[in-house]
Amino acid sequence: MDCPHFLLPASPIFSPDKIKSSFPMKHFALAFLTALFAHAAMAGDFTGHWLVRFNADGTTRETSLYLKAANDQLTGYMSSHQGNEAIQDGKITGNTFTFSIVRDNFGELTTSKYIGELKEDTLLLKPASGHGRELTLKRVSSEPPGPMPAPPAKISLPAASPVSYNGLAKTPPMGWNSWNEFANKVSDQLIRETADTMIKNGMKDAGYVYVNIDDTWEGQRDAQGNIQTNSKFPNMKALADYVHSKGLKLGIYSSPGPKTCAGFEGSFQHEEQDAKTYAAWDIDYLKYDWCSASQVYDYHSMPAVYAKMGEALRATGRPIVYSLCQYGVLHGPQWGESVGGNLWRTTGDISDNWKSMSHIGLDLQLGLAQYAGPGHWNDPDMLEVGNGGMTETEYRTHFSLWSLLAAPLLAGNDLRHVSPAIFDILMNKEVIAVDQDPLGKQATRVAKEGDLEVWSRPLADGSHAVGLFNRGASTGKVTARWSEIGVSGSARVRDLWAHADRGQSSTEFSAEVPSHGVVLLKMEAVQ
Ligand code: GLA
Repeated sequence: MDCPHFLLPASPIFSPDKIKSSFPMKHFALAFLTALFAHAAMAGDFTGHWLVRFNADGTTRETSLYLKAANDQLTGYMSSHQGNEAIQDGKITGNTFTFSIVRDNFGELTTSKYIGELKEDTLLLKPASGHGRELTLKRVSSEPPGPMPAPPAKISLPAASPVSYNGLAKTPPMGWNSWNEFANKVSDQLIRETADTMIKNGMKDAGYVYVNIDDTWEGQRDAQGNIQTNSKFPNMKALADYVHSKGLKLGIYSSPGPKTCAGFEGSFQHEEQDAKTYAAWDIDYLKYDWCSASQVYDYHSMPAVYAKMGEALRATGRPIVYSLCQYGVLHGPQWGESVGGNLWRTTGDISDNWKSMSHIGLDLQLGLAQYAGPGHWNDPDMLEVGNGGMTETEYRTHFSLWSLLAAPLLAGNDLRHVSPAIFDILMNKEVIAVDQDPLGKQATRVAKEGDLEVWSRPLADGSHAVGLFNRGASTGKVTARWSEIGVSGSARVRDLWAHADRGQSSTEFSAEVPSHGVVLLKMEAVQ
């Protein structure tokens, strides 16, 4: 029998060499190991409390599994910053198991499957989908768990009155955000270096002004309940002063829940206090991410929950851009503006790949154009341009699409190390001008034939920005028809990536568009 090495006891008597060298001993050892393996195959020794704790500069993020194994059945619950969640359909096979967790995802029940494996004295747990972090848990007790503690009753807030407009974000915010490339590696030093870079490389002059710290800056609260930074950010006010001294602005992140999505301290029951702290630090932008708020609020209270922070920010008197991050659920774009939001996420998180980006940009923004306008924007998530998971052609498509969508242009890459090709994408001033057009009209899809799509937005000077997209696997000819775009008469055509004029027409314009590529045009009526 081929016995997994980790089932061998530590004693040298059972080392594989010893087994080979002595026949009676081999016989005995094999019998012993077979019995050992058979026992493990019947029921892995999973019962108990398993724990993983991530230390991140003075704050912790914990996940526990409280398990009970009986023959091949596994029961118990998982406990994390998402609350306590019962394990369902737990099945043990040898030293591995599978179970499901059913979650109420804003009114829709979704089932997530997990796979666990016992390896020596640790338990490895990963989502069966293959997406997501693998956790390494250690046993802290062998006691079988008691019943899962009941969750606290959810708070329902009364509908809030509209929050007045703060006068900001007349065009979509531009800048940089730490999350996509750095996640928990964001620090004071990174923010300073990024700000320095944005001055030196001309990005500030091109309009990128917000330098936004995403999740994982948060420390504990002090005795008065004031939020503190963790050790990565020794002095937030000094950092804001530094960023301001460069003519840039500083953004920060929190959640209406008790914990942020990365498990750090959220603003639950400290909304006004936190808004005052941000204002005292001279913060210019807040991204407010729903995360664990579902644990404490009935999610139908979401607009009121967001209005609460909207009001709190307004009450500080400091101009702070308010970015809602609630993934577009509960028709977020319909009420984002009324709770004081300057922008609101319309989907779940973007990933640095073609499938994610093109699905978010080309499929999930349909029907949302009516909610965008000066001061209030749909947010299809931060840019992945330059993070390495897409080709330059795909990144050009990404940047063109976000500009047509009047989306916030928040670069998400390491600005200190950018290739010339990526830099040219982020700095294409003709494309940025489309995004920043003062009319603030988001593009709509005006034609689609299979994988070929035409998107168009009217611009303040009466012209149109038009994107010819090809989602297919080979080059395709895409045609923009004046009748579909709403252009009458003759129009001059300019290619915004080639920086070249392409003549004029009174009916249509066609171009060969590479696979996953774009041809981005400006159509200007000829008088
Ligand atoms: C959520 C948001 C992301 C990022 C992370 C941080 O997933 O959607 O944009 O802010 O949380 O934890």
